[in-house]
Amino acid sequence: MPTAVITGANRGLGLEFARVYLAAGWTVHAGCRNPMRADELKKLKGDLHIHALNVDDPKDAKALAKSLGSEPIDLLLNNAGIYGKRDLKVGGFDHDEFLNVLKTNVVAPIRLAEALVENVAHSTMKKMAFVTSRMGSIAMNAGGSIAYRTSKAALNMAVSCLSMDVKSRGITCILLHPGWVKTDMGGPNAAIGIPESIAGMKQVIDKTGHDDTGKFYDYQGQAIPW
Ligand SMILES: NC(=O)c1ccc[n+]([C@@H]2O[C@H](COP(=O)([O-])OP(=O)(O)OC[C@H]3O[C@@H](n4cnc5c(N)ncnc54)[C@H](OP(=O)(O)O)[C@@H]3O)[C@@H](O)[C@H]2O)c1
Repeated sequence: MPTAVITGANRGLGLEFARVYLAAGWTVHAGCRNPMRADELKKLKGDLHIHALNVDDPKDAKALAKSLGSEPIDLLLNNAGIYGKRDLKVGGFDHDEFLNVLKTNVVAPIRLAEALVENVAHSTMKKMAFVTSRMGSIAMNAGGSIAYRTSKAALNMAVSCLSMDVKSRGITCILLHPGWVKTDMGGPNAAIGIPESIAGMKQVIDKTGHDDTGKFYDYQGQAIPW
């Protein structure tokens, strides 16, 4: 059966990704900042391996790569992300906060892709999926949330570049918008529940072929304008 690495797997979308891939019989390497407190994750049944992975910490990415060794990774699912303070406005900007959001949402997923590229290249499926957001679409911009929007727009560009760099190795990279989902980040008034979002994104990942590399889809498989 295939193997996935999932970041931010202790709650929200990442936890459900882990549950669904384990239920499908996959081996799942689940990353979370604090395994001691990942109670929901630990309850999941299946071939689950939990790793301490603060995606902001280069040492953790190296340690994960070392512990995986030459194990093929069919799917690297870069899911962990932060929104940052919601009230960043020109004139009252918190620049450190802006940098933190960029670090977690842009630098970290690309660093992990670099760390695990050989594992993905030596797998059968050879896929990397990055959870982004429609809020990173410049074409659909409605303003506000500058740090978050900028980080997801930057992630989109970074993954577009990455997809070109690794195309010749047969690796497919896609960007996924999960919908507006009822998680801690999405809040209780969000449009859809976690299972609907994850079932949709899993279907998109399943259907994705090498021709889709570098594309930006929502959880229903609709292309999103850049
Ligand atoms: N929910 C939505 O409506 C929505 C919409 C569009 C895009 N997204 C994207 O979907 C992804 C998942 O979001 P969510 O809704 O599930 O959010 P969430 O409920 O806030 O969960 C975020 C997850 O990311 C982890 N994380 C954050 N920073 C991390 C770090 N430095 N190292 C390791 N893990 C870290 C969190 O771990 P801790 O528990 O340790 O904090 C948590 O597991 C994010 O990339 C988000 O931007 C969500």
